[in-house]
Amino acid sequence: MQRVESEIARLIREIEYDEVTRLFSTLSGGKRLRAKLILKIADTNERAPLLAAIVELIHAASLLHDDVIDEATLRRGAASVNATEGSKNAVMLGDILYSKAFSELVSFDRDIAKIIASSVTALSKGEMMDVKMAESFNDDEEKYLEMLYLKTATLIEAAAQGAAILEGKDPISHALYGRNLGLSFQIIDDILDITSDETTLGKPAMNDFVEGKCTLPYIYLYRVMHNDEKEKLKNLHAKVLSEDESAWIRERMQEHKAIEKSFELAQKLSDEAMNAMRDDEQLINILQNMIKRSY
Ligand code: FPP
Ligand code: MG
Repeated sequence: MQRVESEIARLIREIEYDEVTRLFSTLSGGKRLRAKLILKIADTNERAPLLAAIVELIHAASLLHDDVIDEATLRRGAASVNATEGSKNAVMLGDILYSKAFSELVSFDRDIAKIIASSVTALSKGEMMDVKMAESFNDDEEKYLEMLYLKTATLIEAAAQGAAILEGKDPISHALYGRNLGLSFQIIDDILDITSDETTLGKPAMNDFVEGKCTLPYIYLYRVMHNDEKEKLKNLHAKVLSEDESAWIRERMQEHKAIEKSFELAQKLSDEAMNAMRDDEQLINILQNMIKRSY
């Protein structure tokens, strides 16, 4: 990972603008899940750290833009760039990061470049769907999972597949692994939004529903509620919640096992990812650690 960090630092230096270096230094790197995956899969390839740095810059750019779109003030436990420096700076920094990432990406094989580049179109599509779906209460699980796949899983899928091509490994099974890991990861993120607190999350708890996002636990909850409860839940959608309202939602989720049901799907997807990678202990470890986050 040290080499990934130095590649990232080199790419930022190459932009040759102090303001970019300063703004970038305020970002927290996060878990670097995508970079770790690339290094584990393309473990003998000397260009793996550069590919990992490229994918992390794309991911950072997408979060900068996402925070502007979501009007989020916290990211990874610190104030978001849009909150401290304004939305214009957050958008421009995102533009610089992802265009720099693309300039570097063209030095890779055509197949790898195409896979990563297409995934950025997919994640932008997913973000657009997410915003559209948040305008009203959504109880369509399939639609939700499609959006989740596009918004989160495609870049992880592309990272795993790209790294497999780089290393001469099987791209199909690695893509399947990445896709299911990505979906499982995001479902766990959705669960943590409800079960965790602000200090652990680094962003406000129960915020998805306030932002209008009907994540899987809400979809499962709605399905089994009585009509009057359904009405009450719908009325709370996309509003700032009082302590009582948050507690009411959490209690109903417990009563109707909405979290457990969501976790079962995350576990099932994670098992599918594991099956795609049966012999690779390190990739299985990544999955297991991710599932453990939810406890
Ligand atoms: C976080 O979702 C958002 C994403 C994973 C993708 C965002 C994608 C774009 C803004 C498209 C633009 C892409 C580039 C490269 C500039 P979330 O809001 O559910 O998660 P959060 O709670 O962490 O904010
Ligand atoms: Mg967001």
